Amino acid sequence: MLFQNKIHLTLVLLVNVASSIAVADTPYRGDLTADELNRVFAVTKLTSDFSQAERFEAMSGGAATSSRSPDADAFSQFSANLGFEGEEKFKLGNGLFRKLWVSSPSSTQASDGLGPLFNARSCQRCHLKDGRGHPPEHDADSAVSMFLRLSVPPQSEKEKRLIETGEKQIIPEPTYGTQLQDLAIPGVPAEGKMKITYTEIKVALSGGEVISLRKPEYSIIEKKYGPLHPDVLISPRIAPPMVGLGLLEAIHDADILQQADPDDVDLDGISGRVSWVGYEHKKIGRFGWKASTASVLQQSADAFAGDIGISTPRAMRPWGDCTSLQTQCLNQPTGVQKNLGDSEAPDPVLELVTFYSSNLAVPIRRRVANTSVLSGKKEFYEIGCVKCHRPKFVTSKKAVQKEHRFQLIWPYTDLLLHDMGEGLADGRPVGSASRREWRTAPLWGIGLTKLVNGHTYFLHDGRARNLTEAILWHGGEAENSRQAFIELPPERRKNLIQFLESL
Ligand code: HEC
Ligand code: HEC
Repeated sequence: MLFQNKIHLTLVLLVNVASSIAVADTPYRGDLTADELNRVFAVTKLTSDFSQAERFEAMSGGAATSSRSPDADAFSQFSANLGFEGEEKFKLGNGLFRKLWVSSPSSTQASDGLGPLFNARSCQRCHLKDGRGHPPEHDADSAVSMFLRLSVPPQSEKEKRLIETGEKQIIPEPTYGTQLQDLAIPGVPAEGKMKITYTEIKVALSGGEVISLRKPEYSIIEKKYGPLHPDVLISPRIAPPMVGLGLLEAIHDADILQQADPDDVDLDGISGRVSWVGYEHKKIGRFGWKASTASVLQQSADAFAGDIGISTPRAMRPWGDCTSLQTQCLNQPTGVQKNLGDSEAPDPVLELVTFYSSNLAVPIRRRVANTSVLSGKKEFYEIGCVKCHRPKFVTSKKAVQKEHRFQLIWPYTDLLLHDMGEGLADGRPVGSASRREWRTAPLWGIGLTKLVNGHTYFLHDGRARNLTEAILWHGGEAENSRQAFIELPPERRKNLIQFLESL
C-alpha cells in the first residue's frame, strides 16, 4: 500500500514537471510549437480513468496500425498508411528479408557471399514470421533463432580507453570474434555449439499458486578453434519481434531524455539511463536487447555482416565475423562482384531491407474496453510497470519517413536501460549498458506471440515460458513491481495478464 502511494505521488510529480515545462515558452522538443507541445502533453499524460478505454488506445501504432483481424501473419503486414510506392518497396524488401544467401562462388548471381561463418542464411530464419525467436526446445532442436554474443573485458590501457570514449562498444573475443557462429560454409569448421542447462527455482504467489522459473546456464561445446579466452563474456539473445521499429526510431530524443533519471532524483527506486552509441556523434541507442544500436539501418547492416556473413556498403566485412586468427575462414572467396559494387549486397539491398524492417505494422489491440482488461490495465499502472513500460508517445514531426511523423503510439517502453538485478544479468557490458542492464522491452503486439510464433518464450534469452514467468524474473529497479505482482490477489493478477494479452 505504501508503495502504491509512492507511485501516485511520483506520478503527480511527473505531471507537475510536465505542465511546468509546457507553460514555458520554449518547447523542449524542437519539432513542436509551444501550442503543439501542450497538446502532446495532454494526450500522452498517464490516465487515471480505468472505467473505459482511452481515445485511440486500440491504435498501438497510430495511423500505421494494421487493423486486420489477427492471424499467424499478424506481424507481417505493412504500415496501413504506406502509399502505393511504399507498398511496392516494402514487398521488394520482404523478398530480400526472406532471401536465402548461398556460398561463393555460385552460379546464382548476386545471391552469394554467405559466411564463411554464419548463424542463418536469411533474416527471416531468425525473425520467424517477423516475430520472435526461441531457445531450443530439446537437444535435437536447432538454436538458429538465438545466438551467443561474445567479448572479453578490456585487456590493456588502450582498450580501456577505446571503451570509455565510446570508440568501441566491446572488445571481441580474440579468436571467435563478436558472436558464436554455429554454422559455416563447406570447407570451414563452424565455431561450436551453444549448450543450455536449466535449473528450476520455485516462487510462491499470494493465494497459494507456486510458479517454477527455469534459470539457464550457457556454455559452448564442440569448440573448433581452440579454447576461448579465460575471461570470455557470453550473452544469449533471441531474435526480437520486428513490428513498429520505424516508429520507435521516430520517437523524439527529448522524450527519451526527459524520462531518464540516472541518479534517481525522484527517489522511486527506478533510474533509467540513456544508451549512448557512437564516438564523435553520439546518438541514442534504441535497438537490440541492450539498446546498443541507434538505427534500423545500422542494426540491419550489422545483421547482414555478423549473422549471415554478407557485406553491405554500411558494413564492409565480406568475411563477416572471421577474426585474424581464423585464417582458413579468411582464405575463402568472397561474394563481391566488382561489376555490381564493392560489397556482397550492393545498394539498394540494405536500403530495401531497412525499409521493410521499419514498416512492419503494429497490430490493432483486441478487447481494449473489456472490464477485466481495463482492471488489469489499472494494476499495470498502479504497481509501477508504467515507470519503465511507458505507455505512449507522440513521434517527431521531423521523422525521416512521413508515415512515422506525429503519430500517437503505444509501445510500452521508455527505450532506457535499467538494472534488472542479478537474476537477469548476463555479466557482459556493451557500450553504455552495464552487465545487469537491459532496455525496457516494448510490449506492443506481445499478446499475439502464441498465434504468430506458436510459443510464449519471453525475455532476452527466452527463459520465461509465459508472461507470468517473465514478470517474476524482473528484479533490480523492478523489484518493487515484481513484489507487488506476487502480492496481488489471484484474480487481479489474472486481469493484469489479460491486459498484456490484449496488447
Ligand atoms: C541468427 C539470427 C538472426 C538473423 C539471421 C538476423 N537477426 Fe536480426 N536480430 C537477432 C537478434 C538476436 C537480435 C537482438 C540483437 C541484440 O540484442 O543485440 C536482432 C535484432 C534485430 C533488430 C532490432 C530489433 C529490436 O527490436 O531492437 C533488427 C532491426 C534486425 N535484427 C534486423 C535484421 C535483419 C534486417 C536481418 C537480415 C539482414 C536480421 N536481423 C538477421 C537475430 C537475427
Ligand atoms: C525497472 C524497469 C521495469 C519495470 C518497473 C518493469 N519492467 Fe518489464 N521489462 C523491463 C526490461 C528491461 C525488460 C527486458 C528484460 C530482459 O529481456 O532481460 C522487461 C521485459 C518485460 C516483459 C517481456 C518482454 C519481451 O519481449 O520478452 C514483460 C512481459 C514485462 N516486462 C512486463 C512487465 C510488467 C507486467 C511489469 C509490472 C509488474 C513490468 N514489466 C515492470 C523493465 C521493466
